[in-house]
Amino acid sequence: MTYRNPPTTPRKSATFDDYTLSEIRRAAATGIYDIRGAGAKRKLPHFDDLLFLGASISRYPLEGYRERCDTSVVLGSRHARKPIELKIPITIAGMSFGSLSGPAKEALGRGATLSGTSTTTGDGGMTEEERGHSKTLVYQYLPSRYGMNPRDLRRADAIEVVVGQGAKPGGGGMLLGQKISDRVAEMRTLPKGIDQRSASRHPDWTGPDDLEIKILELREITDWEKPIYVKVGGARPYYDTALAVKAGADVVVVDGMQGGTAATQEVFIENVGQPTLACIRPAVQALQDLGMHRKVQLIVSGGIRNGADVAKALALGVDAVSIGTAALVALGDNDPRWEAEYSALGTTAGAYDDWHEGRDPAGITTQDPELMKRVDPIAAGRRLANYLKVMTLEAQTIARACGKNSLHNLEPEDLVALSIEAAAMAGVPLAGTSWIPGKNGF
Ligand SMILES: Cc1cc2nc3c(=O)[nH]c(=O)nc-3n(C[C@H](O)[C@H](O)[C@H](O)COP(=O)(O)O)c2cc1C
Repeated sequence: MTYRNPPTTPRKSATFDDYTLSEIRRAAATGIYDIRGAGAKRKLPHFDDLLFLGASISRYPLEGYRERCDTSVVLGSRHARKPIELKIPITIAGMSFGSLSGPAKEALGRGATLSGTSTTTGDGGMTEEERGHSKTLVYQYLPSRYGMNPRDLRRADAIEVVVGQGAKPGGGGMLLGQKISDRVAEMRTLPKGIDQRSASRHPDWTGPDDLEIKILELREITDWEKPIYVKVGGARPYYDTALAVKAGADVVVVDGMQGGTAATQEVFIENVGQPTLACIRPAVQALQDLGMHRKVQLIVSGGIRNGADVAKALALGVDAVSIGTAALVALGDNDPRWEAEYSALGTTAGAYDDWHEGRDPAGITTQDPELMKRVDPIAAGRRLANYLKVMTLEAQTIARACGKNSLHNLEPEDLVALSIEAAAMAGVPLAGTSWIPGKNGF
């Protein structure tokens, strides 16, 4: 007699879930790995796992409408003769020209300038759209050196040496052929229409001593005026921060694994690096151990979405945060009003799966001359400025409720965690207890 399952509800495997099965089928059909933009999409411990305590009998809140709460920050005060002064501790992260259109770059510059903050170039060089509309522009010095020239180093307000990115620590960037227009090709001195893979390491470095030499070279080229940042992906935040400080950095940028990218292998984005939340405490600890906390500034990025995230990062000891994905969304990217066109591309608004393909209906992650006309840089810049204003107001609301007259006075003592994992990573007590799992453990 043949055995038959009794008639129960069919159960799908949690291990072989629908997405996994479709990915196996896709790989079997095509023989190539999946490439996409954006950061890790899996659920990871994040700022949502932290809560502020607010004031109570033992703490004294500030009045929202009458009492000041400072938001300004100075970056690069360690060695640079001209440190950067920002009105808000939220900067726009480096996003390459090539991955983004010219009008999108202009909109980022406009929005950042209206808000009193900085924007950052990216792989592929400095565009006039961005330099012209950014009061404060950070120029990235990347392993690929695409579009790099000493003249632009001098036109920048700060220099960011990129060692790695949170979406792909240890990996280089990608720009697919359909985004290599005449202009992008010329700026990168590479052929039009052919896929590009940026280098994963700087050509003239073999270790931390070379970073020190490179920073000195950059200081000399820029007359010791410009702050020098070092950006690392969230791999070994304690040691990477310490080594960047030793090499002479003015500012350390740590980008966690939720950090966005324009195009990278899916397997890389989802399986390499550490969550942003797990990177902060070790990086702050490294600065404290070296007596450099608040002397060398720390910027953290990767999944920052709102004023609460900003306030939580600052409470953990960060000086400023940086945003990429959220800034593009504020400009109008992945807006549901383009849903029909996203769906024709085989994706959906909010999945960010189209960034690498160059056919972005919103005109932001494309080089298509017709699509990019959809971006009005003035209106998009205003939307970005509105969003930055809301984030800042939200962070101030929380800080005042914690009794702080500056966002930078927020502290770990203001926070509790909702899970043991988040408590251990952030180094704050599990809610309802005084227990900090793994304290001093890294
Ligand atoms: C479209 C896009 C292009 C990017 N290009 C670069 C780049 O050229 N250089 C770089 O260091 N990081 C690049 N990044 C990463 C950002 O600088 C930043 O680390 C990341 O977006 C922060 O995470 P978030 O997107 O969650 O805010 C890019 C990110 C995006 C979304």
